[in-house]
Amino acid sequence: MSAEFANRMDRVRAERLRPMTVAALDGVVELERLVYPFPWSRANFVDSLAAGYTSWTLDGPGDELIGYCIAMRGVDEMHLLNITIAPPARRRGHARRMLGELVLLCRSEGARRLWLEVRESNADARATYVRLGFEHVGIRKGYYPAPEGRREDAVVMSLVLDDRDESDALD
Ligand SMILES: CC(C)(COP(=O)(O)OP(=O)(O)OC[C@H]1O[C@@H](n2cnc3c(N)ncnc32)[C@H](O)[C@@H]1OP(=O)(O)O)[C@@H](O)C(=O)NCCC(=O)NCCS
Repeated sequence: MSAEFANRMDRVRAERLRPMTVAALDGVVELERLVYPFPWSRANFVDSLAAGYTSWTLDGPGDELIGYCIAMRGVDEMHLLNITIAPPARRRGHARRMLGELVLLCRSEGARRLWLEVRESNADARATYVRLGFEHVGIRKGYYPAPEGRREDAVVMSLVLDDRDESDALD
């Protein structure tokens, strides 16, 4: 095993995905405000926890917040509402890992599709989702607020979870 690979494996093991708690919300809200021009409010996160949505934080070895995600269960589907990775921690597979865990959860609960909306201008997130196997399904006109009172379209994307076994999650 190369030293580089061993280091990476140590880092991966040291990162922990856990249920989001109220105690984590200060850090979550801080990161949310740093990343988005129109961030979720603290109340949005509190409501998500109270509603029992699937809500996870990913913490680093020193307990620093790397990212979080929130997803809402439907009858036979899951809707990803928020996924955020701290800027310095991007492009290291954290979103892939969180979404991989979400896919496993969907499959274990019989959800057949994972849905999401993403701003049309959000090229990084759209590229990530395409890379992870999501397909463009449609557009929601004027779905998001935008600067100066304007609105921005959402691209609706989905990942079909049928007919795949757990070993190929997000391959
Ligand atoms: C979108 C976001 C969550 C991706 O998180 P990440 O941890 O950097 O993503 P990963 O490292 O797990 O990348 C997953 C795959 O997407 C690819 N990818 C990630 N960012 C990409 C980019 N900017 N351009 C092209 N491909 C990208 C990676 O190469 C990787 O593919 P690979 O494993 O085959 O190499 C992160 O950029 C983010 O938090 N953005 C700001 C918040 C946001 O826009 N959230 C989504 C709102 S809908």
